[in-house]
Amino acid sequence: MARGKFITFEGCDGCGKSTQLKLLSEYLAKENVPHIFTREPGGGKISEAIREILLNGKNAEMTDDCEALLYAAARMQHLADRVEPALAEGKLVVCDRYVDSSLAYQAYARGLGVDFIAQINGQALKKYRPDVTIFIDLTPEAAFQRKHGADENDRLEQAGMAFHQRVYAGYKALAEQEPDRIVAVDGNKTPQEIFADVLAILRERNCI
Ligand code: TYD
Repeated sequence: MARGKFITFEGCDGCGKSTQLKLLSEYLAKENVPHIFTREPGGGKISEAIREILLNGKNAEMTDDCEALLYAAARMQHLADRVEPALAEGKLVVCDRYVDSSLAYQAYARGLGVDFIAQINGQALKKYRPDVTIFIDLTPEAAFQRKHGADENDRLEQAGMAFHQRVYAGYKALAEQEPDRIVAVDGNKTPQEIFADVLAILRERNCI
């Protein structure tokens, strides 16, 4: 059986990713496309436990290195638990965030550098490179305005506007470096318009 395709969604906090994933989930169910939906960090018992440590607002003393390694660790476990089995069964795997989040948030915004993040995420960047990554392009200013400020219980959302601006700049740089894989959609459009763009990209790449 042919291996399934692997698609990931990326963007700043509050960019409208969840809405698009919900629309895609409804579409894939209606069209009977064999698929799984999953998310990072998380998607399994061990990786969800790591997620709790990462996002817990009480863990303010976490170092940037520790943060990057925990995201990478959760990712390895998640690839083994959920992604590999589904791809082997020929299913479409749709993942809410993946290694580009580590590049945008940890390499660019935290300033840990692309080399270190690439080194600890070697498997994700080589063996499990997404077939297509959809980047919902919306500035953090527009995103936070939309959701009326940051979630005070979420450690990453509390990191401040300058941090999120660096995340956004990181995504823009990544999209420029890998235009074959990372496709930007304009996050300022209406959800239905964005979804039409998403479907067009997935069709063009023979993912659906
Ligand atoms: P989540 O609540 O899932 O945010 P969203 O709904 O915006 O996806 O929290 C995930 C947070 O973790 C988000 O702020 C991005 C961050 N993150 C990283 O910093 N590095 C990573 O590798 C991943 C996967 C996520």
